[in-house]
Amino acid sequence: MAKMWAGRTEGAVNQIADDFNSSIHFDCRMFREDITGSMAHAAMLGAKGIITAEEADTLIAGLEGILADLSSGALAFDMSAEDIHMFVEQVLTERLGDVGKKLHTARSRNDQVALDFRMYLRRELDEIADLTKKLVATITAKAEEYADYILPGYTHLQRAQPILFGHHLMAYAMMLLRDIDRLADCRKRMNLSPIGCCALAGTTYDTDRRFEAKKLGFDGICQNSLDGVSDRDFAVEMLSALSLLMMHLSRFSEEIILWCSWEFKFVELSDSFTTGSSIMPQKKNPDMAELVRGKTGRVYGDLMALLTTLKGLPLAYNKDMQEDKESVFDAIDTAKMCLKVFDGMVATMKANKENMLRAAQKGFINATDLADYLVKKGMPFRTAYKISGGLVAKCIRENTVLEELPLADYKAESDLFDEDVYEAISLRTCVETRISEGGTSLASVKSQIAYAKEMLK
Ligand code: ARG
Repeated sequence: MAKMWAGRTEGAVNQIADDFNSSIHFDCRMFREDITGSMAHAAMLGAKGIITAEEADTLIAGLEGILADLSSGALAFDMSAEDIHMFVEQVLTERLGDVGKKLHTARSRNDQVALDFRMYLRRELDEIADLTKKLVATITAKAEEYADYILPGYTHLQRAQPILFGHHLMAYAMMLLRDIDRLADCRKRMNLSPIGCCALAGTTYDTDRRFEAKKLGFDGICQNSLDGVSDRDFAVEMLSALSLLMMHLSRFSEEIILWCSWEFKFVELSDSFTTGSSIMPQKKNPDMAELVRGKTGRVYGDLMALLTTLKGLPLAYNKDMQEDKESVFDAIDTAKMCLKVFDGMVATMKANKENMLRAAQKGFINATDLADYLVKKGMPFRTAYKISGGLVAKCIRENTVLEELPLADYKAESDLFDEDVYEAISLRTCVETRISEGGTSLASVKSQIAYAKEMLK
């Protein structure tokens, strides 16, 4: 195909160079944004008298036709075109004749691609925020269902203190709520229009950038034309928001993988979200969680790729910037898939109350509460800590647990101990007395659930 920019050169490019230069195989996914952006541009040109109102209407109708035909499949992308922008303009000119050639007045592909990219990412960002909200709702429902199951809370992966499963699940809901907030924040800076910045310096035509911005749903315009065509911060911000989101899913995945192991058996994943082994008949593998954990690395890679592409670029547009899209598209596709599969996996996951409790009963996770018992009776914490540690050591030596140690053994260490110690160190008491805001008591977990529900409204 003859190049639209033939003139300065003859437009005859070596085949390998032409293929290398072409981006239509990935930027074709922005065709809707490219066409609606062009419709707003044509409307502005008409409104400002840069072209006639009739010409504007013809262009808009022609663009509408291309949009409909691409959407229905009646028109196929020409993979020999340089990019989506050139392809749409080429088809428009084929269909309309000379008037089609007026569309590109007072703009450049540099502001056009920046516009399309922002609009495309804005749409995907909204979809990802919705998927994340759905996952928060699923996690919150699970937290409600299993609110009062007791399990060990860990630090250093060592049993630390008893907590409620509802509390543990809600920790992930809080992370994802922050992700939703981060996406919304990123959207604010993304939602400014670069169209009208033109190649780099603005234009001599009497355009109306705010007219176009408003028509396309932007909150305002990029204030500096050089920055407008060079800025890809919004894409980097989106990739970093997605990286954090994936990191949260990955940590959750890691825990689910542990919890499904025979060593823990805290949860059982549904058969519909696990796989078997080709050789070991007993296996039920948490592949979905492992893949989410694995794909997290890939999204981090996408972020690094874009940051690295941008780091040495002088103003304004450089062709390096064509490399901005594939990494963001990949991260978007990956995050969307992960969110969907994760939602189904969590929704169908079953918790095992007995196994969680059994694990909580071992490991002396009420030792802090034993120390607190003495503190409440007037002993300084450090002294109480020491006595409790000694009693734990005694239990280990005698192969017993604090709940079953005779009162005489307690009294031998301190006469502050009484019959009520057993109630004080029962797991249910340990959990229920952690009433500080955000703590693990059932009342606190319930208010965390209520908070998440409120945030989702
Ligand atoms: N395909 C290009 C990209 O994605 C469009 C912008 C081309 N601009 C230019 N001056 N060659 O970045």
